[in-house]
Amino acid sequence: MKMIVTGKGGVGKTTIAAALAHAFARRGFSVLALDTDSIPNLAQSLGVPFEEAYSIVPLSKNEDLVEERTGARPGEGWGVLFSLTPKVDDLIDKYGVRVSDKISLVVVGSIDASKEGCLCPAIALAKAFLRHALLEKGRVVIVDSEAGTEVFGRGLAEKFDLMLCVAEPTAKSMLVSLRMVEMASELDIERSIVVINKVKDYEKAVRVFSRVFDERDVTFHVIRFEPYLTDIERNGWGVDKLPPDGVLLSDVDNLCHRICNMYKLKVRLDV
Ligand SMILES: Nc1ncnc2c1ncn2[C@@H]1O[C@H](COP(=O)(O)OP(=O)(O)O)[C@@H](O)[C@H]1O
Ligand SMILES: [Mg+2]
Repeated sequence: MKMIVTGKGGVGKTTIAAALAHAFARRGFSVLALDTDSIPNLAQSLGVPFEEAYSIVPLSKNEDLVEERTGARPGEGWGVLFSLTPKVDDLIDKYGVRVSDKISLVVVGSIDASKEGCLCPAIALAKAFLRHALLEKGRVVIVDSEAGTEVFGRGLAEKFDLMLCVAEPTAKSMLVSLRMVEMASELDIERSIVVINKVKDYEKAVRVFSRVFDERDVTFHVIRFEPYLTDIERNGWGVDKLPPDGVLLSDVDNLCHRICNMYKLKVRLDV
């Protein structure tokens, strides 16, 4: 099961990706969480202690690794020959951070060339790694993506079974999601769920969703506004420190339950 969490900056992608990773783990699944933000912060949301989270070097920023695997250092300029098919199959083991018994995290770094400048070998390594990680068997893979739509590059998008498009309950935010859902279906991502986040008024949120998505057959899931998140973040803690019966963890657990039903996911006891 491979899913990508998308949406505009600040809507709650990282928070939901982290909470979902814990929800799957609590149900017994092994989870591989991948952070592809150019300013990664999934580690912290997952509950990796601040100092450790801060010291993680994204694969695409690890210049020695990029050079070792592609044959060129990032920023060497145009015209340098480098491998587009670097060896990546050992990177989860070598660079994965063990968040808990069931959750591993790899901080990949950005795969968006426009954000990274001409760091082509680094982008090539990050993309090759992602393509490899999306072939993982026996794990739930959750990719926390960067704001925007660059994640939908050919050769990657179609490897996802599900896009979770996070939106705030406003017409503007919902319109961005509509566009992303349309792109996802053009790119053969099997299914999309619009996750309406930070909801204080259920009825109003659903009304905005219906107005924007009209008659389209798109599933939505509501996650309520979680007042405890401010405290958690002030202390540099992860979402695992939220009250288990609080709104965020309950609503995300429901989402996890729905995904398990949709895709008939069962924990395999032999892995
Ligand atoms: N359900 C929620 N209730 C309250 N605040 C939320 C909720 N989801 C996210 N937030 C807050 O919104 C801000 C942005 O969240 P984040 O997950 O970093 O977004 P993104 O990854 O999309 O940029 C954070 O301060 C986070 O605490
Ligand atoms: Mg984020």
